[in-house]
Amino acid sequence: MKNNNGYSCWLQYDLLGQAAREAAVEWAQDIVLTEAAEQGPLKTAVDELTAGMAAMLGKRPAIVPAPVTGRRYILLGTVGGSAHVARLIGGGETSAFGEESYRIKTVCEPDREAIVLAGGSGKGLLYAVFHFLRLIVTGADLGSLDVTEQPKYGLRMINHWDNMDGSIERGYAGRSFLYADGRVLSGSPRIRDYARLMASIGINGIAINNVNVHRQETMLLTEQLLPDVAAIADAFREYGIRLFLSANYASPVELGETATADPLDAEVAAWWQRAAERVYRHIPDFGGFVVKADSENRPGPFTYGRDHADGANMLAAALKPYGGLVLWRCFVYNCQQDWRDRTTDRARAAYDHFKPLDGRFMDNVVLQIKNGPMDFQVREPVSPLFGAMERTNQIMEFQITQEYTGHQIDVCYLVPQWKQVLEFDTLVKGEGSKVKDIAAGRVHPYSHCGITAVTNVGDDDNWTGHHLAQANLFGYGRLIWNPELSAEQIAAEWVRLTFGDNSEVASAVTDILMESWPAYEKYTSPLGVGWMVRPHLHYGVDVDGYEYSKWGTYHFADRDGVGVDRTVATGTGYAGQYVGANAERYERTSSCPDELLLFFHHVPYTYRLQSGKTVIQHIYDTHFEGVEQVEQWIVRWRSLEGKLDAERFRHIGERLARQLDNAKEWRDVVNTYFYRKSGIPDQGKRVIFV
Ligand code: GCU
Repeated sequence: MKNNNGYSCWLQYDLLGQAAREAAVEWAQDIVLTEAAEQGPLKTAVDELTAGMAAMLGKRPAIVPAPVTGRRYILLGTVGGSAHVARLIGGGETSAFGEESYRIKTVCEPDREAIVLAGGSGKGLLYAVFHFLRLIVTGADLGSLDVTEQPKYGLRMINHWDNMDGSIERGYAGRSFLYADGRVLSGSPRIRDYARLMASIGINGIAINNVNVHRQETMLLTEQLLPDVAAIADAFREYGIRLFLSANYASPVELGETATADPLDAEVAAWWQRAAERVYRHIPDFGGFVVKADSENRPGPFTYGRDHADGANMLAAALKPYGGLVLWRCFVYNCQQDWRDRTTDRARAAYDHFKPLDGRFMDNVVLQIKNGPMDFQVREPVSPLFGAMERTNQIMEFQITQEYTGHQIDVCYLVPQWKQVLEFDTLVKGEGSKVKDIAAGRVHPYSHCGITAVTNVGDDDNWTGHHLAQANLFGYGRLIWNPELSAEQIAAEWVRLTFGDNSEVASAVTDILMESWPAYEKYTSPLGVGWMVRPHLHYGVDVDGYEYSKWGTYHFADRDGVGVDRTVATGTGYAGQYVGANAERYERTSSCPDELLLFFHHVPYTYRLQSGKTVIQHIYDTHFEGVEQVEQWIVRWRSLEGKLDAERFRHIGERLARQLDNAKEWRDVVNTYFYRKSGIPDQGKRVIFV
């Protein structure tokens, strides 16, 4: 078997089996195109389809203006641009098509047997092409296709935390492929390949630099670097992706051009207006700014006695004439907390800061809210801020890069976690106010909303460090296109596209993925309490690593019990930020879900969970089980030798071995820690080091 370095990810068209090839070949002699496709996503759609078919079938289809009588063909076009397309799929059916929508339909009538790929625009058509190619690889019956798709979310974004020195904050897959040594790698062919990968899963916006914007990256807004940024935007545009930049709130001060960054100062506003004019001159479809302000020591309007609305609106006013957005992050909390201070609760911070500002933001401001109130832990409740502001646009932020979930050394398939978040019913407008609908603007009438995530890619050959971490990137895109897909469906699809049709390999990889988030949760911090990681690094165990720190991240374990009291009755009051039945459920230990018990409550080690186990026994059991799970994967993985290419077999085997080491260390440190604190032995009498 040919070695596979993973570069093509899920776009490996040479994986096609014999039967699928024969079925496709009949349709693929001619591609009928009746409209001009000289540039942009429409041209890309034609190119991708031709190249994909050629790679699959070994023969390039001809592009012809009209069908050859008696021969099957693929008809490609936009609903508005091709009368032929409209005729074959019925104009009425597509009249409500958005520009990103598409239809794929087999039309079987005498003398005009065709597969029609119809897009609401060139962009919709491009998505149709990627979908169609996926259907071929996964062996769909091409004789009876009938697919209509439209994305659930308007903004489907990716955030890069890449710095211009080539490093990536929280990156675990090599260096940046966007920058090196202070330069923008605008000519790199990899950027185009990346745009292609992202478009194939429906991403339509990418912010290309870290939210922590330092001096060098502040320069991205200047005449000096904008031509390079524009070259990236050009590559993105061909794939229907708008480029965004993270902006330093204090840019004019940083660049020495104003004395203040006060948002109400006319000179500051004028500076940003000039900046916006400059950016749009280079990048006419520029998406907007992502802003981390007054957060973790980044500058912001607080310095001038102003609030977030003042700051965001000043930027929004500058972008508004051009249709740009301000994605203003809500990751705002006191990062200089004193651990002795039990009244301050970091979990409360985003809601406390932003909720009172509802209605004050301009309509091109979108608040970017992390999925949980803390920071991308393996388990957190859903941020109560999401949906809590009726008159302020919101976008949900996930983290694909595995900062707290194993650094792409450990397998941790995160789609099940994201699905849980999306399915959470906030009750903000009564039952049926799920996060997935709020993010789509269906609960409150948001004018801009959707989902974004911090990406996990770097310049490693396989993009994501661990081959299996590609599943998170793919899964993110698929899920935010259609949140009704199950995590398992997405995993199975990814496995088929990435590893081919060997059923033993497919079921082993799918099982490992599906078991991986629960396993990671089991051997790390228990019952939603979070942290316990090595400070700063965030990989590996250090139970008290953040316990006496300034970051507001405590578990409060003592000899009697563990957990954070966030109740209204006796704790920080955080539980009261939820609505109605959710607030009540979290408030009481008896109704709080086990997996979040220690997030909301401080309980004795002997407290009995809904599962029937005591907290301490749960800690011991899960830590042993987590390690056993990884051991089982290793046995299963070894059985696949020879059934997939040697390179990926070796690479994944090696990562699983490292994961096992990590899991054992977590198990032993956590078990010993709690045994020493509580003095309560394990009922199973397993080895706990004393
Ligand atoms: C976390 C992460 C930082 C990042 C920050 C953010 O704290 O560790 O590296 O900058 O989140 O989201 O802004």
